[in-house]
Amino acid sequence: MKVKLVVTHPRQDSLTFAVMNRFIEGMQENSHEIDILDLYHDGFDPLYRVEDERDWQNPDKQHAPVIRKELDRVLAADAIVFVFPIWWYNVPSMLKAYLDKVWNMGLLNKANSKKALWIALAGGQRLHSINTTITT
Ligand SMILES: Cc1cc2nc3c(=O)[nH]c(=O)nc-3n(C[C@H](O)[C@H](O)[C@H](O)COP(=O)(O)O)c2cc1C
Repeated sequence: MKVKLVVTHPRQDSLTFAVMNRFIEGMQENSHEIDILDLYHDGFDPLYRVEDERDWQNPDKQHAPVIRKELDRVLAADAIVFVFPIWWYNVPSMLKAYLDKVWNMGLLNKANSKKALWIALAGGQRLHSINTTITT
């Protein structure tokens, strides 16, 4: 199987990267092919620009070359895997930016039968209590 893996974390010594590396090992042991996009370290541009937004509902829209290239990589895969930490009960903004820019109408029109696996890491150190005083 050809798998597209998108990893999101600013730190390569993170739990997120450790889990991704173990996942990759398992995939390689089973002869699967992996195409990795590391959003932070591959320099993905998270800004949603005027040209990204313009004509966004058109499935035949001509995207910027960098987005087009990424669309082709996703379309070439049988399955897509996202590895990321939960940040405030949500995906990190970098991953949301990727989804907004790449998982556009053109892709959604063609990729509707792809399998997706979401590996979301959560948890952390015990939280210190937060004392908030509101004065009026
Ligand atoms: C900005 C930020 C927000 C976070 N929000 C949550 C959260 O809502 N729930 C949670 O369980 N953990 C949260 N965490 C902890 C991460 O999920 C934790 O980092 C995760 O276990 C992955 O570990 P790693 O950062 O070493 O990869 C947050 C961490 C950061 C930096």
